[in-house]
Amino acid sequence: MYKIAVAGTGYVGLVAGVCFAEKGHQVTCVDIDRNKVNVMKSGISPIYEEGLEELMQKNYAEGRLDYTIDYQSAYKDADAIFIGVGTPEQPDGSANLSYIATVARQIAESVEKDCLVVVKSTVPVGTNDKVEQFINDFLVNDVRVEVASNPEFLAQGSAVHDTLYAERVIIGTESKWAEELLMNIYEPFHLPIVSVNRRSAEMIKYASNDFLALKISYMNDIANLCELVGADIQDVARGMSFDERIGRKFLNAGIGYGGSCFPKDTKALEYIAKQNGYELKTVTAAINVNNEQKTLLYKKASKRLITFNGLKVAVLGLTFKPGTDDLREAASLENVPLLLEQGADIYAFDPVGAENFAKVYPEGKNGKGSITYVSSPEDALKNANVCFIFTEWGEVKAVTPETYKKLMRTSLVFDGRNIYKVDEMGEAGVEYHSVGRKVAIPTSKKEAKEFGHIDTDLQPVGY
Ligand code: UDX
Repeated sequence: MYKIAVAGTGYVGLVAGVCFAEKGHQVTCVDIDRNKVNVMKSGISPIYEEGLEELMQKNYAEGRLDYTIDYQSAYKDADAIFIGVGTPEQPDGSANLSYIATVARQIAESVEKDCLVVVKSTVPVGTNDKVEQFINDFLVNDVRVEVASNPEFLAQGSAVHDTLYAERVIIGTESKWAEELLMNIYEPFHLPIVSVNRRSAEMIKYASNDFLALKISYMNDIANLCELVGADIQDVARGMSFDERIGRKFLNAGIGYGGSCFPKDTKALEYIAKQNGYELKTVTAAINVNNEQKTLLYKKASKRLITFNGLKVAVLGLTFKPGTDDLREAASLENVPLLLEQGADIYAFDPVGAENFAKVYPEGKNGKGSITYVSSPEDALKNANVCFIFTEWGEVKAVTPETYKKLMRTSLVFDGRNIYKVDEMGEAGVEYHSVGRKVAIPTSKKEAKEFGHIDTDLQPVGY
């Protein structure tokens, strides 16, 4: 078992540190935020991630896991130091590497024995070469320090599971010593290990994420065409999925991808290509389709409704996906301001993301409209004129078609996650617009006429 230090306690760093401890290593997680360190020592996770707190408490209690702001004590005699700090996107799409540089400098000044520095953060190809050079330039003691790449593939909401049961571990090294050390660290996980050189490892991370982003954008592009030609994207995806070359996953059309990785990593790779005099046309296409897709529901609703002014709008789901409180690049952040600008009175439900959303859009009057946070989908739907579904939370999926009909003043639903069967919504008396599928029209004319603010003479989009 090894003595491991982890720099940064965000999603990547904290989850990695906790999982290494769980597998028996001696782990110290380093962060610059003293309050955060104290919170973690008390057994509370700074991020919402299933199973994480239990493992934090268990491994801390059993003495394998600790947290500190004192990087020197953590780094000086570590066998390996994992870097999991952020590489935020800069306005030009490139990755900001200043956090990595800071940690590299601290490592150079602290290490007192041979040590492997492992970069988990997503970094442009070639960065690890530079980090190694940088550390060696600033090394205070006469020790051997090498850098390895070990990109992270965890998805938020299932981070612990994704780490403990990863489909593969990618390690990028430039020496037998580094390769063996990293393989030994991962040995207790019993996972398939792909060992390549550092630059290939860095590239595998971008290529994987961007391929998944491209897959989603492709399905969204096809979904939009399905609406025009009368096909059903879910049936199309099902039909495609039996082909093992295509695969079953990441074929869900919707309101585009959000989160901390796909938007950032697509732009970063596009930038890396440009820097190298190459135009990465497929990735650019994925980005463009996604940008369009994010406001799809607003665009559809704007065609359907005369105005949002004074309308009670139910918003179900705010986070970029279920199982996380993360709002980064969420479709809600694009659509809500458009609705508020138009004077909508929004009633928003999200089981864990509302608090973060309220930091951006505080409860009460917001521009011409207003926003109120409620604690159940039903509270949001009561007397609503229109409903938007942005995130497929379990609580949202549990709402029956009849409930929309019963609670809403005019049961008009725009679903960005294709939660419901189109015909079931129509039969329940709900006018239902989703992505890549036909529109459900309430079966009786009387029900259609009940739609107060809605111009029923308008042909619904895509029907
Ligand atoms: C992703 C990758 O899955 C992970 O391997 C990588 O390390 C980080 O980026 P994450 O951003 O947490 O993880 O979420 P993910 O579950 O991949 O979803 C990303 C976005 O794509 C979400 O907004 C989701 O709603 C959307 N998505 C996903 C679709 O629109 N359709 C799909 O079929 C799948």
